[in-house]
Amino acid sequence: MSKLERASFGSKLGVILATAGSAVGLGNIWRFPFMTGQNGGAVFILIYIFCVLLLGIPCMISEFIIGRHGQSNTARAFSKISGGSAWTLIGYMGVLTGFLISSYYAVVSGWCLEYVWASLLGKLEGDPAYISSYFETFSKDPVKPVFWTFLILLVTYLIVEHGVRNGIERASKLMMPILFILLLIIVVASCLLPNAQKGIEFLIKPDLSKVNGDVFLGALGQSFYSLSIAMGCICTYASYFSKQTNLPNSAIQIGVIDFLVALLAGLVIFPAAFSVGVQPDSGPSLIFITLPNVFQQAFSGIPALGYVIALLFYILLSMAALTSLMSLHEVSTAFLEEEMGTTRKKAALMVTVFCVLLGIFCSLSLGAGQNYHIFGMSLFNLFDFVTGQLMLPFVGFLTCILIGWFVPHKIVRDEFTNRGTLDNVRLFHIYLFLAKYVCPICIMFIFLHQFGWL
Ligand code: PHE
Repeated sequence: MSKLERASFGSKLGVILATAGSAVGLGNIWRFPFMTGQNGGAVFILIYIFCVLLLGIPCMISEFIIGRHGQSNTARAFSKISGGSAWTLIGYMGVLTGFLISSYYAVVSGWCLEYVWASLLGKLEGDPAYISSYFETFSKDPVKPVFWTFLILLVTYLIVEHGVRNGIERASKLMMPILFILLLIIVVASCLLPNAQKGIEFLIKPDLSKVNGDVFLGALGQSFYSLSIAMGCICTYASYFSKQTNLPNSAIQIGVIDFLVALLAGLVIFPAAFSVGVQPDSGPSLIFITLPNVFQQAFSGIPALGYVIALLFYILLSMAALTSLMSLHEVSTAFLEEEMGTTRKKAALMVTVFCVLLGIFCSLSLGAGQNYHIFGMSLFNLFDFVTGQLMLPFVGFLTCILIGWFVPHKIVRDEFTNRGTLDNVRLFHIYLFLAKYVCPICIMFIFLHQFGWL
């Protein structure tokens, strides 16, 4: 496809909903509420907002600038903005990170589909031990999780191969509002439970005694992951923005939506958990073991309410996962389409096949292949570690250095101000300062901290 015919999003709303779709995902629902509850409630929320403003949004704007300037896949966009130098490698790393994450993200997204199915059939009812064993048995099964991984990747393929406007934008415009409405319904149901206020208090009560350096670094890392930074997604989507899209405003709007969803997820989980006296934890066990129990017990007063709430919750979770998976898939699809000069359909098919294959290995590494380890980790955990803890900070750090120190400021300013047509030069200077000094230093801290070097 030539530059002139390059695909683009059709509307401002499409830009916001598609990019917010990438950002809003499992990270908002299984990590943010737990981190808030454990790290000082309202204080953590304030620190998190601070991190989103200081680090997340400037990094997102940097990726927007590279993507829209390049009007091409992430690897080529990095090459264009850096004049074809060694910085291109960072673009390639972004694509690779996106690809590796898509395969294990697809496995977990597949689990969400299984839980939609299981709650539809009423299989998630029983005592806590049964629900816990249900997850254990399911995630170690050699066939079922692979089937769901395949299915979610098939759905992703069907959306992505329809193109940017007819596939990704349309699907996001449909799913994001539904996701938001479902979330609001469940928040209301959860907050009306007896003792719900204890859960709300736990979430928002400021507890200064819990705040230390770890809390800051945790919030920084979460803001990064939650906004889908450094994995090629934001850069690829930005290549479909029009020259009129206001980059800083869009980044702020997406940051706000992402934060609101995370906060609302907390308002589902804590009031429900506290109303039945269960201590919520984080990660897969929160979503797939604790919550089915909590929903069942908390809403047992009204017939079928627990069933409906669980079903709605897993539908919303699957949609959040799917819109993120679409963006991850698009990174590699755009790359193959443009670099191999093939059609979108063929590129999307290739990406899907590779993701299914890797997804199968990831999924089996938790069950049938759990005795095979690479560097002492299962493939699933290895992917998580390499992408989240090594490649993500590395790509993010170098992206800021590239924009702040190497790309001529005129190019950066032209993108930021839409060639001087927006009245935001002051904001530009703040952004540049953050991208040049604050972001690289903060990312460096996260990196050193996670290896215990700080
Ligand atoms: N931001 C997503 C979440 O919160 C995770 C993600 C990261 C999705 C990178 C796509 C790309 O779950």
